[in-house]
Amino acid sequence: MNSETTRVLILGGTGDAAALAAQLSVLPGVAITTALAGRTQQPSALPGAVRVGGFSGSNGLLAYLKQQHIDILIDATHPFAAQMSWNAAMAAVEARLPHLMLVRPEWKKVAGDRWIEVETVEAAAPAIPTNAKRIFLTIGRQQLAPFALLPHWFLMRSIDPPATDMALPNGELLLDRGPYTLENEIALLKQHRIEAIVSKNSGGAATYAKVMAARELALPIVMVQRPAMPSGDRVSDVASAVEWVKQML
Ligand SMILES: NC(=O)c1ccc[n+]([C@@H]2O[C@H](COP(=O)([O-])OP(=O)(O)OC[C@H]3O[C@@H](n4cnc5c(N)ncnc54)[C@H](OP(=O)(O)O)[C@@H]3O)[C@@H](O)[C@H]2O)c1
Repeated sequence: MNSETTRVLILGGTGDAAALAAQLSVLPGVAITTALAGRTQQPSALPGAVRVGGFSGSNGLLAYLKQQHIDILIDATHPFAAQMSWNAAMAAVEARLPHLMLVRPEWKKVAGDRWIEVETVEAAAPAIPTNAKRIFLTIGRQQLAPFALLPHWFLMRSIDPPATDMALPNGELLLDRGPYTLENEIALLKQHRIEAIVSKNSGGAATYAKVMAARELALPIVMVQRPAMPSGDRVSDVASAVEWVKQML
């Protein structure tokens, strides 16, 4: 890099993105901006600059990268934020910028897990076992509509409430933010007499307790697989992302 300050744009919205911003912001000569979609009403505090709101597609992102003289683009979005990852990959190619994806490993099925693996959230609704009537729906708040067509009772957990104009499944909302403990997840599943879970394969430790709790209680999980990601430089943890950036300086 030629300029004195290396400007890094982190596409965020995850705990890993926040940890990365914290670790990069103490590097000398590095200026961090984290971009958030603006979905969460009260996001956690972040070091460095924060930009909230979409860029209007990959062309909008490309324009922003140029205007702000960004030197490095890091996509640390959630593994299910595929649109943003593809937009980022395309904009980075156009801008000829170093581009890294920080993607935490997915959860792997182990002995005792009863997973029904499906490709999309839409496919999860018809895959719920027919004998399960009380379902823990833990896929966030944006894709609840397919479950509104089902007769089941749902415990729906998300950080913020769903949009008021959205058709909601029958059941109860639980507003909460991880990390969660195994003990509390088991207690929650028992309290609501849950018979099956619907989850995304998000990976990471913060929400893995529900998977362990399901194993402990022998409950099935309809597990939504990850969407396809662009090819390119990729690491699976924050420390490796920091090392990658240091090599670019
Ligand atoms: N999907 C999940 O399960 C999930 C879970 C936890 C956290 N999140 C976080 O929530 C945010 C939105 O996720 P999503 O699944 O809705 O994404 P998405 O479907 O990939 O993106 C939809 C649009 O939202 C905007 N956007 C997404 N991430 C952005 C970011 N970091 N900064 C600025 N704009 C962003 C972009 O709008 P423009 O086209 O206008 O640029 C993008 O085209 C992401 O930051 C993600 O890390 C998602």
